[in-house]
Amino acid sequence: MDERRAIREVPHGSPEYWQTADLRNSVLRKPIGLHFSPEDVEAEKRYHHFACYAGEKLVGCFMLDPLEHGDIRMRQLAVSPESQRRGIGTALVSYAEQWARQAGFRRIVLHARETAVSFYETLGYSRVGEQFEEVTITHWVMEKDL
Ligand SMILES: CC(C)(COP(=O)(O)OP(=O)(O)OC[C@H]1O[C@@H](n2cnc3c(N)ncnc32)[C@H](O)[C@@H]1OP(=O)(O)O)[C@@H](O)C(=O)NCCC(=O)NCCS
Repeated sequence: MDERRAIREVPHGSPEYWQTADLRNSVLRKPIGLHFSPEDVEAEKRYHHFACYAGEKLVGCFMLDPLEHGDIRMRQLAVSPESQRRGIGTALVSYAEQWARQAGFRRIVLHARETAVSFYETLGYSRVGEQFEEVTITHWVMEKDL
């Protein structure tokens, strides 16, 4: 990874959190006509939030949602459009796996948009079950044992 890139956990409600919310809004929600709601902010209180910076600039983010039975869900992985295909998504997934393993989780689960399935397959994730519709687009449940 580039030396100037750094990934770190950011607290819910902090200025850094709001930056990640803006990034997720523009990369994931706006293109399909959705917006960030007060209910979303409330629901996200229990998640862990992570941000990736290149120098001062936020270039990617994701959230981790602890579930039961050793599972943790990765949510809303997003890399800014001008920074995609430079290894940032891969670095974020790797960081998530390391963080989750150290915290004692045994499996990462996620809902992958159809367009991101091959990205996750490259990183060792497998599709589980059938495709389904969520936020108006086709998704697959994917998982990886840690
Ligand atoms: C999907 C996403 C997180 C990937 O992040 P990224 O930083 O662009 O990915 P990387 O540069 O680490 O890509 C690693 C490899 O994954 C594969 N890959 C990445 N994006 C891909 C895409 N859109 N289609 C097909 N393969 C892809 C490629 O094999 C790529 O290697 P290559 O560039 O050498 O060919 C990013 O493109 C993104 O934010 N997309 C929009 C939001 C989204 O779909 N998020 C996932 C929600 S489930």
